[in-house]
Amino acid sequence: MNDDLRRALIARAMAARERAYAPYSNYRVGAALLAASGKIYDGVNVENAAYPAGICAERTALAKAVSEGERQFEAMAVTTNDGSSPCGMCRQMLSEFGLDLAVLLVNDEGTLIHETTLNDLLPRAFGPADLGSDE
Ligand code: THU
Repeated sequence: MNDDLRRALIARAMAARERAYAPYSNYRVGAALLAASGKIYDGVNVENAAYPAGICAERTALAKAVSEGERQFEAMAVTTNDGSSPCGMCRQMLSEFGLDLAVLLVNDEGTLIHETTLNDLLPRAFGPADLGSDE
């Protein structure tokens, strides 16, 4: 991924974060997922009065992309206060579509705190191959 793309992905995640719906935790998260098609799908955390019904920003972005027909992804930027890492459930859900995904962790100033891969975040992942799935 080149620097222009990296910057564009981070900008989308930062802009999305403004729309986070996080009245309970006040922990706002924005994500931007780059598909192999070149399109970027963003997402925010959407909390709920029934707390467990809320969804993380990363899974919002992924569901938006897959529901538009995307299946291959190259990179995801995640923006939080401090550049925190995606939760386990998001790592698992993203892993369905490949472990080579680049993951960019960004703070609220838009600074890239850490760049890694999903493979590093979720070693020895359980995935479609374990079920013999051809999806
Ligand atoms: N959250 C995310 O959106 N992504 C993560 O990877 C970690 C947590 C959200 C869920 C909840 O709305 C808030 O952050 C606090 O946990």
